[in-house]
Amino acid sequence: MIISVINQKGGVSKTTSVFNIAGNLAGEGYKVLQVDIDPQASLTIANGIEPSRIDKSIYDVLCEDVNIKEVLHEVGENLKICVSKLDLSVAELSLVNKMARETILKKVLKEVNKEFDFILIDCPPNLGLLTINALCASDKVIIPASTDYLSLRGVDLLVKTVDKVKYNLNEDLDIIGIIATMHNSRTTHSNEILEVFKNNYNVIGTISESVRVKDSILAGIPLCKFVPTHKTTKEYKKISDKLIEIRKKEMQ
Ligand SMILES: Nc1ncnc2c1ncn2[C@@H]1O[C@H](COP(=O)(O)OP(=O)(O)O)[C@@H](O)[C@H]1O
Ligand SMILES: [Mg+2]
Repeated sequence: MIISVINQKGGVSKTTSVFNIAGNLAGEGYKVLQVDIDPQASLTIANGIEPSRIDKSIYDVLCEDVNIKEVLHEVGENLKICVSKLDLSVAELSLVNKMARETILKKVLKEVNKEFDFILIDCPPNLGLLTINALCASDKVIIPASTDYLSLRGVDLLVKTVDKVKYNLNEDLDIIGIIATMHNSRTTHSNEILEVFKNNYNVIGTISESVRVKDSILAGIPLCKFVPTHKTTKEYKKISDKLIEIRKKEMQ
C-alpha cells in the first residue's frame, strides 16, 4: 500500500508523522519504505542521514534515470528510506519537459513495491509537480493538519486538489483522512478547530503537542522506541493500527 502524506502548508507534522508511523509499522514486523521527496530532506535527516554526504538521491532517480535501489538506505529492521537532498529543488523544472511527467514516481516505485508492505511518501510543502507525482503513485492519502485556523483554511484547497488528481490522473486514489496534529487541549482555539475538523472531515487521529516529539526527531529515534509509553506514542500507534487494519481489509 502506497500512502502520500501531504499538506501544502509547512510545519504541520508531515515529516514527523511519516517518521513515527513508519517506525511503528516496521516495529510491528511490516516491511516499510519511507520516501523523502522534499528538497529540504527533513525525513532523510530525521533518519540520521546527512544529505550533503550522500552521492545520489531521489533527484537522480526521477531526473537522471538512476535505479531507485541505488538510493535506498537501510535505517532499521524492516525499515528503509529513499533519500532526498537539496538538488531535488530543481527537479520540478527538469520534470516539466519529461514525457508523462506526472507519473515518473509511480513507474519508479513499481520496481520496488513488491518488496514492501507499506510505502510512505513525505511530500514537500506545496502542490507542485513532486506532490502530484506522489499522488499519482499512491493508493491512499493522509493529511496532517495542525489544529489552528490557517491550517484549517488550507485543508479545503488540499482536498479539492486531491479530488482533481483522482478525477484526471489516478481514479484509485482515496483520502484515508486527516491527522489533527500539534493539538493543545488546554487552549480553546485548538479545541474549537479540532471540532471543525471532526465535523467536516474524517479525523483518523489526534496528536498532542509535546516537546518529546521534537526530541525524538533530534535523536533520530521514532517515538515508539524513544518514549514507548508516552501519550503521543500511543496516539501515533492508534493511527498505524488503523493503517494495518485498512491494509488487511484490502488484501482480502
Ligand atoms: N506533536 C508535535 N508536538 C510538538 N512539536 C511538533 C509536533 N509535531 C511536529 N513538531 C515539530 O514541528 C516542526 C515541524 O514539523 P514537521 O514534521 O517538520 O512538519 P512538516 O513536515 O509538515 O513541515 C518540527 O520542528 C517538529 O519537530
Ligand atoms: Mg516536512
